[in-house]
Amino acid sequence: MKKQSFFLPTFFRIFCMRLFGFGFLLSVVTGTHAAECPLQLNPQRVVVRYNGSVAVNCSTSVQHDGMGWEASEGAVPMSKDNLITWRVSDLREWDREPFCYINTKDRDQCKIELPVTVYKTPDSVSISTVDHIGPMKEGNQYELQCDVLNVAPVQYLTVKWYKGQTLVNQTTFNDTIKTPVNETDTLMIRPDRSDGVQYRCEAELKLGEEGPQPPPKVTSDPLSITVHYKPTINETKLPSIVPVFRGYPVVIVCEAEGKPKPTISWNLGTNKPVYSETLTVTDSTPEDLSCIANNSVGNTTRHVKVSVQDISISTVNHTGPMMERNQYELQCDVLNVAPVQYLTVKWYKGQTLVNQTNFTDTIKTPVNKTDTLTIHPDRSDDGVQYKCEAELKLRTEGPRPPPKLLTDHLNITVFFEPIINETKLPSKVPVFRGYEMVLVCEAEGNPKPTISWNIGTNNPVYSETFTITDSTAEELSCIANNSVGTDIKHVKVVLKEDYLPLIAGLVAITVAFISVIFIFIYSIYYKTAKMGRYSLKDAKPSAQNGNIAQNGKDNTIPMKKLSQSNIFA
Ligand SMILES: *[C@@H]1O[C@H](CO)[C@@H](O)[C@H](O)[C@H]1NC(C)=O
Ligand SMILES: *[C@@H]1O[C@H](CO)[C@@H](O)[C@H](O)[C@H]1NC(C)=O
Ligand SMILES: *[C@@H]1O[C@H](CO)[C@@H](O)[C@H](O)[C@H]1NC(C)=O
Ligand SMILES: *[C@@H]1O[C@H](CO)[C@@H](O)[C@H](O)[C@H]1NC(C)=O
Ligand SMILES: *[C@@H]1O[C@H](CO)[C@@H](O)[C@H](O)[C@H]1NC(C)=O
Ligand SMILES: *[C@@H]1O[C@H](CO)[C@@H](O)[C@H](O)[C@H]1NC(C)=O
Ligand SMILES: *[C@@H]1O[C@H](CO)[C@@H](O)[C@H](O)[C@H]1NC(C)=O
Ligand SMILES: *[C@@H]1O[C@H](CO)[C@@H](O)[C@H](O)[C@H]1NC(C)=O
Ligand SMILES: *[C@@H]1O[C@H](CO)[C@@H](O)[C@H](O)[C@H]1NC(C)=O
Ligand SMILES: *[C@@H]1O[C@H](CO)[C@@H](O)[C@H](O)[C@H]1NC(C)=O
Ligand SMILES: *[C@@H]1O[C@H](CO)[C@@H](O)[C@H](O)[C@H]1NC(C)=O
Ligand SMILES: *[C@@H]1O[C@H](CO)[C@@H](O)[C@H](O)[C@H]1NC(C)=O
Repeated sequence: MKKQSFFLPTFFRIFCMRLFGFGFLLSVVTGTHAAECPLQLNPQRVVVRYNGSVAVNCSTSVQHDGMGWEASEGAVPMSKDNLITWRVSDLREWDREPFCYINTKDRDQCKIELPVTVYKTPDSVSISTVDHIGPMKEGNQYELQCDVLNVAPVQYLTVKWYKGQTLVNQTTFNDTIKTPVNETDTLMIRPDRSDGVQYRCEAELKLGEEGPQPPPKVTSDPLSITVHYKPTINETKLPSIVPVFRGYPVVIVCEAEGKPKPTISWNLGTNKPVYSETLTVTDSTPEDLSCIANNSVGNTTRHVKVSVQDISISTVNHTGPMMERNQYELQCDVLNVAPVQYLTVKWYKGQTLVNQTNFTDTIKTPVNKTDTLTIHPDRSDDGVQYKCEAELKLRTEGPRPPPKLLTDHLNITVFFEPIINETKLPSKVPVFRGYEMVLVCEAEGNPKPTISWNIGTNNPVYSETFTITDSTAEELSCIANNSVGTDIKHVKVVLKEDYLPLIAGLVAITVAFISVIFIFIYSIYYKTAKMGRYSLKDAKPSAQNGNIAQNGKDNTIPMKKLSQSNIFA
């Protein structure tokens, strides 16, 4: 309202300046400006706290008929003085501006208004959330509100928003109302997990140079906000492909960050989740599994593929049995191994270490490595098992998967030509006329050889054994044959006469002859023994007293002789 009263004079002054630009400049130089009111205010503008004190001088350097202060409080009546002071000790007017006037002789009354800014700091500044209680969810939008009570003039008010120590937004008000008002400002926020911070708002009155320094301000209490967020699974700790070596379990870890603290579970494709941060994966674990981190905000799932790794052993460019003395290559494939720098591949034949390769590449990512072993199998290698072992000689970091991995066995079959056992089949075989003899031809070979006898006829005899008689050909041979080769063994049959009946006849004749001689000798001896009995009886009758008396005619010695002769007969 007051400003309007100055509108015309101001407009007029500008109009004059434009119209009489040159004349205006001249008048400034000469100091005789007709349009200026010859009054000076000191200070020219005041900023006063409501109920505060104020004092402003109004002075002139020209002759006058009187000057004074017009004001609702502390008015100064017209006086002849050249300096008058408007003074109020407790200003309680919001929107009335006082003015100083002067009456001069050569012109009409003129006046100068004193701009007065009456301010009042807010009774309170408070911060709150709009339509929300409790923790906020990350990514959602929320509104914060700052209430500033009883502040004036709102035109000079700035509401500043702070997140922690950082100014995030500010609002000024262009309402020209001079009396105290309540103001509300809002701030839209989209909190994230790092917002474990405090918000506050601050009401500041920027009253300009004339105002108090620093500008008065009132700050709200801090508003602590809690942000809840969806779990995030640490992908470094849980790779999407987990290599598992057969026979070597691996422990995998699902670690998730989230607020509130997430629940970790594993989905193994069954209906029962496994509630644990760790899971032991073996080659029998389902190929596809997932870790689920769950909290009140949401779920995060990470899919894991279990890749069962085999170290494989194989023969290069060859299948089936090997031929004795040929050269073959065995190959050991180590899949997805890292770091290859620490890899050693060992070859075993049975339980014996036969070769070893140390890899030196410095590549860090998983690679496939192949190592070969050259072998020259012989017949003693048939059925031998080869295997290779990959060993990761890690220094300090935990051995998961464990550092030693063995392949399955590679059974090799060696084919070799037959050899006939000479111990069982001599090259010369005697045979007696009229008798049979069985020959055994045994041969070792792989595959198992076929045995046949060549007996001089066109038809070979297929059998391990062959019975020879005196009618068999003198020359025969055993042939052992398999897909690898043939062994032939010649046998000479030596026919022997059978002297046994002759010998038996001779023996019989000899026995008969000896018998005759014995009988002859005995008959001579018998005659001699009869004569001796009579002489003995005569010579020693007293010695056998009792016996003679009882038996009368018999005697011991002749009886013996008689029994002896009975035996001969
Ligand atoms: C004004 O200030 C005086 C003292 O300077 C004090 O006694 C009085 O209560 C104040 N009044 C208001 C309304 O602030
Ligand atoms: C003052 O506020 C009004 C309404 O809020 C708006 O239209 C106007 O542009 C604002 N003026 C300035 C200078 O900010
Ligand atoms: C400001 O708000 C307070 C509390 O709500 C109320 O008492 C007062 O009357 C309000 N003032 C204005 C100017 O609206
Ligand atoms: C900051 O304030 C301006 C003006 O009030 C507003 O347009 C903007 O959206 C605010 N920014 C934020 C983040 O609230
Ligand atoms: C994930 O785990 C790795 C290894 O322990 C660690 O260095 C990293 O800081 C973790 N990342 C997060 C987001 O926690
Ligand atoms: C979280 O998982 C449960 C089952 O585990 C499901 O019912 C729910 O819909 C999931 N929530 C979200 C946000 O995906
Ligand atoms: C395997 O045999 C094929 C064709 O016979 C040949 O091209 C290849 O070089 C051989 N590989 C090895 C490792 O000998
Ligand atoms: C491989 O390394 C081992 C020790 O780690 C060593 O004994 C062996 O001689 C090395 N072999 C070769 C072929 O360098
Ligand atoms: C290793 O071999 C496997 C199977 O052949 C293949 O899937 C994989 O991509 C190979 N890895 C590298 C690093 O070449
Ligand atoms: C054993 O390993 C060494 C080094 O790798 C290699 O030179 C040699 O040929 C290998 N021997 C056989 C029989 O493969
Ligand atoms: C190799 O031979 C062993 C026993 O001699 C047997 O248990 C194994 O199954 C064989 N492996 C293959 C691949 O034939
Ligand atoms: C040949 O036969 C003999 C007697 O049966 C046996 O002791 C020997 O081991 C065999 N020789 C071979 C090479 O099989």
